[in-house]
Amino acid sequence: MIRVAVCGANGRMGKEVCQAVLSDDYVELAAKIDICGDDVYSSIDEASKSEKIDVLVDFTQPSSVFENAKFCLNNGIKIVIGTTGLSDNQIEQLENLSKNNNTGCLIAPNFSTGAVLMMKFAQMAAKYFDNAEIIELHHNQKKDAPSGTAIKTALMMSEAKDSFKTGNCPETETIKGSRGGTSYSDIQIHSVRMPGFMASQEVIFGSNGQILKIRHDSTDRKCYMDGVMLAVKHVAKENDFVYGLDKLLK
Ligand SMILES: NC(=O)c1ccc[n+]([C@@H]2O[C@H](COP(=O)([O-])OP(=O)(O)OC[C@H]3O[C@@H](n4cnc5c(N)ncnc54)[C@H](O)[C@@H]3O)[C@@H](O)[C@H]2O)c1
Repeated sequence: MIRVAVCGANGRMGKEVCQAVLSDDYVELAAKIDICGDDVYSSIDEASKSEKIDVLVDFTQPSSVFENAKFCLNNGIKIVIGTTGLSDNQIEQLENLSKNNNTGCLIAPNFSTGAVLMMKFAQMAAKYFDNAEIIELHHNQKKDAPSGTAIKTALMMSEAKDSFKTGNCPETETIKGSRGGTSYSDIQIHSVRMPGFMASQEVIFGSNGQILKIRHDSTDRKCYMDGVMLAVKHVAKENDFVYGLDKLLK
């Protein structure tokens, strides 16, 4: 049995992960950790002193995840990170820590299989289109923008070419931010935040006389759970560093 601790156990994602762990015959819930609520450990340090933890799953917040991950990797606790908002530099530091300490670490900006496919399809299409932009739409309690999924999608598309603004004329923003944020290979990312959405993303490709839209909508947080459990089982048996669930979906 793999002993799993859930950090952020009282949050929206943390609650789903606890349920998924309890319903899986190969894993058991070793500890619930959260800074809010009853019946939980208040820190990873406290939980790890009382419980044997094989894998910790982190769904907390952008301002906590880096310190949580460093604590785990420095204390021999394997970690699956779902929390978004890590910078490129922080991801690189965690990769080095994971490799130097030979402790498994998997970071996935999106655990839903449909979203992973949307990213892969966007990567495939990137080769054939010179112009592309990303619109991501989330609920209005999301703390970071743009989403980790949008950043990862742009990164994957940027492997196909250096710029996705071929032929665009020089632009002036009359209202600051109108054109969104510029990411890898000049891909503009636009972030929408409002009630009614959970997590959606549309990647729009354009060329002369045609538009291709690749869209994914998450309508229930259960869509992430197969991916989270796949990641937990991978990390439990391997000590490698993995960025993106796509690496496990061959
Ligand atoms: N990778 C994915 O597939 C995926 C999917 C959905 C959400 N997310 C990300 O997961 C994160 C959590 O989302 P959510 O909607 O569950 O948020 P939430 O605000 O509902 O829950 C976060 C929980 O973490 C707790 N917390 C905060 N700091 C903590 C700390 N240092 N130690 C322990 N607990 C702490 C909070 O008290 C809260 O209960 C966000 O970054 C979100 O973008 C990722």
